Amino acid sequence: MPSRRCCRILDLSRNHNDSTVSSTASTTIARLRCIACGATPDSAGQDFRCANCGDLLEFFFPEWTFDPAALKALWVDRKTSRRSLDQSGVWRFRELLPHIPEEHAITLREGNTPLYQLPRCARIAGLDMLHAKHQGMNPTASFKDTGMTFAASSAHHNGFRWVACASTGNTSASMAAYAARGHMHSLVLIPEGKISWGKLSQALDHGALTCQLRTDFDGCVRILNELVRQKPVYLLNSVNPYRIEGQKTAAIELLEQLGWEPPDHIIVPGGNLGNSSAIGKALLEMRELKLIARLPKLSIIQAQGANPFYRSVREFHGTKLEPMSADTMATAIRIGSPASWKKALRVLQATGGEVEQVTEVEIAAAKAEIGADGVGCEPASAVTLAGLKKLTQRGFVKPGESVVLILTGHLLKDPDFTVKFHRGDLFAGTKDENEARQTQSLQRAPVVLEADLGAVIGALDTAERNS
Ligand code: F0G
Repeated sequence: MPSRRCCRILDLSRNHNDSTVSSTASTTIARLRCIACGATPDSAGQDFRCANCGDLLEFFFPEWTFDPAALKALWVDRKTSRRSLDQSGVWRFRELLPHIPEEHAITLREGNTPLYQLPRCARIAGLDMLHAKHQGMNPTASFKDTGMTFAASSAHHNGFRWVACASTGNTSASMAAYAARGHMHSLVLIPEGKISWGKLSQALDHGALTCQLRTDFDGCVRILNELVRQKPVYLLNSVNPYRIEGQKTAAIELLEQLGWEPPDHIIVPGGNLGNSSAIGKALLEMRELKLIARLPKLSIIQAQGANPFYRSVREFHGTKLEPMSADTMATAIRIGSPASWKKALRVLQATGGEVEQVTEVEIAAAKAEIGADGVGCEPASAVTLAGLKKLTQRGFVKPGESVVLILTGHLLKDPDFTVKFHRGDLFAGTKDENEARQTQSLQRAPVVLEADLGAVIGALDTAERNS
């Protein structure tokens, strides 16, 4: 397999010296550090793990000093710019990211996602007000695009022909799109039969070499880790610290949308735990830079059938994580051995957040409730509302507090789940069939009628009486 470059991956150079920035930014350097042993290598290997101890690497910025007011003003100014980098909701915040030369930036104008109020969901959760930042409104309809624009650009910068990931579906969809935009080839490893057709169709359409392996996500990760040691392919899973840096911007954009007034709580779904790590890293960095005065509590919610992090925190106080065989209909977070659990634990503890687990029926109900607020999301995103209900019941979240849910994927990512739910088929024949009866009032099955005006008027009248 021809490659332009394969061994030294990371180019650690000076931060952006944009002429518009010079009054705002000091020149700073992005460095790598191992999260466990603290080693600070100049470059990372193909697997992005510490050469000393094998743990994950992260970026840090030892010389960071910014004028917070000037930085905020600069980011607002860029909103009216016609430069593609400025129009991206990721690259707009490039002062807080490692440097990648502009000619290598691959952008689909990701980020820029809306912050919605969810009034019905707020009432259901017992809150005065509730917001959702909808990362499913990204170009490939999931939060992965914010990390992918940055990490795919790093692959391009380093001359790779091939990029690769193991995925439960969204990473592969995003990677395939960004690779295609950057004229790179992409290799996708997905668990056979365990990802939604919507996500698979995206990878196919964007030209990825898509391998459906007869294993689960964790099995795909194992094979990919071996592969990158033997072949010159660039790893685009969230162990790649460039992914985390790009995903940080969701939190920066959120705080900007809130006028830099931090909410009391941010709630995220937990799968491989890259997203929670990224959002938490951004919060800590924003406080360090005095962009915000206090930290929101970052809480992480897992599906009960895929809850290794929940168990790590609750049973072992974060001292260890026991991998498990994961199972949930929220296939995006069907992960038994999350790579970034130590990073997530650190931000959970630093922000004073909580962990929760939610059942399959609770996920399905919460998804329908978010849908009924006119927003909608995929099942994995709905764990946030399901978990929030538990956090309010426990008194961890108080009625008057401000809460933001991070919705990670679009409703149309997994239409099968939604249609089955509304037809009442989702739990048929499963152990959850009885518990699922509680969700009947949320179901809106389609009605089949003769092509007859009277029949339609009858259906309308019935619906009006029941509303
Ligand atoms: N929500 C959605 C919609 C996801 O696709 C994922 C992860 C998560 C939440 C969990 O985020 O892994 O950063 O904790 N999807 C990955 C994938 C694993 O391959 O698409 P995380």
